[in-house]
Amino acid sequence: MFLLFGILLLFCLVDCYVNCIIMELCCFLGNYSIRLVNDTNDCSGRVEILYNGTWGTVCDDDWDMNDAAVVCRQLGCGTAVSARGSANFSQGSGQIWLDDVGCSGSESLLAQCSHPSIGTHNCGHHEDAGVVCLDIRLVRGFDSCCGRVEIRYNGQWGTVCDDNWDMNDAAVVCRQSQCGSAISAPHGAAFSQGSGSIWLDDVECSGSEGALTQCSHSGLGKHNCKHGEDAGVVCSGKPNL
Ligand SMILES: *[C@@H]1O[C@H](CO)[C@@H](O)[C@H](O)[C@H]1NC(C)=O
Ligand SMILES: *[C@@H]1O[C@H](CO)[C@@H](O)[C@H](O)[C@H]1NC(C)=O
Ligand SMILES: *[C@@H]1O[C@H](CO)[C@@H](O)[C@H](O)[C@H]1NC(C)=O
Ligand SMILES: *[C@@H]1O[C@H](CO)[C@@H](O)[C@H](O)[C@H]1NC(C)=O
Repeated sequence: MFLLFGILLLFCLVDCYVNCIIMELCCFLGNYSIRLVNDTNDCSGRVEILYNGTWGTVCDDDWDMNDAAVVCRQLGCGTAVSARGSANFSQGSGQIWLDDVGCSGSESLLAQCSHPSIGTHNCGHHEDAGVVCLDIRLVRGFDSCCGRVEIRYNGQWGTVCDDNWDMNDAAVVCRQSQCGSAISAPHGAAFSQGSGSIWLDDVECSGSEGALTQCSHSGLGKHNCKHGEDAGVVCSGKPNL
C-alpha cells in the first residue's frame, strides 16, 4: 500500500518536473512568438505574446525604448521610434503575460530580457504596452549603399527633406544602413524624386546617433518641402548581398 502510494507520488513529481522543464525550455529560453496588433501595419501596435497556446499582452510598467528596440528587432521591423503605454493601441483582452520588462536594448528576442515569471503582474489591460518601429532604405542609387534616403513609418515608405542635410546626417544613415562611413550628402533629389510622404525635415545629427530618427528634426511628417528636395547619401560600404 505504502509502496504503491510512494510510486504514485514519485511518478507525479517526475511528471510535474518534466512538464516544468519542457515549459521552461520552450517558453522562457526559446523564443515565444510576438506580434503587433491594432495598427494599420505590422510594424507598430500593441505588443502581444504567444505563450502556452494563448495570445496575451505586455504591461507598460517599466516599458521603455530599450524594450521597444528589442521588439522591433525581433520582428525585423528596424529601429524603435516610440514605446507606448496606457493601451495606446486599444486594450487587449485575456492574459497579461509580461510585466516589468527590463531589456538592455541589445537582446535579439524579448524572451531574453529580464522580467518576472510569465503571467505574474499587477496590471490591467488599460496598461497594455505598444511600440512604433521604423526602417530605412537607400533607393535609386548604384547599389543599396547609396541613393535616396527613405524611412518607413506607419507602414509607409517616405523621404527625407534636404533642408540642413549634411555629412553628419549622412554618417548616421550610412551607419544605420550598415554601409560604412559617408562620402557625400547630395541634395535636390540627386537620386530622382520619391513619392508619397516626406517623413523628416530639418534633420540635425551630431553624427554619432545610431538611427536617423534619434537626431533632432521637425517631427515625423512635419515639413515645408517638395520631393524635388529629397535627400540622398553615398556611403563607403558595399551592400551585404
Ligand atoms: C524563433 O522562432 C521563430 C519561429 O518559430 C524561428 O523562425 C526563429 O529562428 C527562432 N529564433 C531563435 C533565435 O530561436
Ligand atoms: C483598434 O481598436 C479600436 C478599439 O477596439 C478600434 O476602434 C480600431 O478600429 C482598431 N484599429 C485597427 C487599425 O484595428
Ligand atoms: C496552459 O494551458 C492549459 C490548457 O489551456 C491550461 O490548463 C494551463 O493552466 C495553462 N498554463 C498557464 C501557465 O497558463
Ligand atoms: C497614443 O500616443 C500618441 C503619442 O503619444 C498620442 O498622440 C495619441 O493621442 C495616443 N492615442 C491614444 C488613443 O491614446
